[in-house]
Amino acid sequence: MKAKRIRIAAMLAASALILHACGGGANEGASAGPPGTESQAPGAESQDESKPAGMITAADLSLGDIDPAMAEKGKTTYDVKCQACHSMGENRVVGPGWKGITTRREPAWIMNMILNIDMMLAEDEEAQKLLEQCLVRMPNQNLSKEEARDVLEFMRTL
Ligand code: HEC
Repeated sequence: MKAKRIRIAAMLAASALILHACGGGANEGASAGPPGTESQAPGAESQDESKPAGMITAADLSLGDIDPAMAEKGKTTYDVKCQACHSMGENRVVGPGWKGITTRREPAWIMNMILNIDMMLAEDEEAQKLLEQCLVRMPNQNLSKEEARDVLEFMRTL
C-alpha cells in the first residue's frame, strides 16, 4: 500500500520534471535559435519578437556618471516610443511611471524589460506582478541595445 503510493509519487515527480523540461527547456525544435548567445535562455516559445536580442546581464553594463548626451537621446526615444504609456513622474498611465525607477530596479532588469519583454513576462516574477497590476502587456518596442541603453541613461535622470 505504502510502497505503491511512493511509486505513484515518484512517477508524478518524474512527469513533472519532463513537463518542466518541455515548458522551459532548450527545445530541440528551435534549430534556428539565436546564434550562440546564452545557454539557458528558455525563449523557446515561438511567439517570438523579430530579433533575439539575448538577455542582458549586469556584466554587459557599465554605469558611470550620467552621460548627458546619452540621456538626451534616450529622452527622444522616450518621447516617440514610450511616453504614450509611461509618465516621467510617479503616476501610472498604462505602465508604471518612471520616477526613481533606477533606484527600485536593477539596470539589467530594466534593459531586459525593454529588449526582452516577452521573455520577462514569461519568466520573471516581478514583471508578471506588473502585468497583474497594469493588465496590459507591454508591447516590444523593438529598440536596439544602444537605444535601450540611452533610455536607461535618461531614466537615471528621473
Ligand atoms: C502600450 C503601452 C506601453 C508602451 C508604448 C511602453 N510600455 Fe513599458 N510597460 C507597459 C506596461 C503595461 C508595463 C507593465 C509590465 C507589463 O505588463 O508588461 C510596462 C513596464 C515597463 C517597465 C518596468 C517598469 C517598472 O516600474 O518596473 C519598463 C522599464 C518599461 N516598461 C520600459 C519601456 C520603454 C523603454 C518603452 C519605450 C521604448 C516602453 N516601456 C513603452 C506599457 C508600455
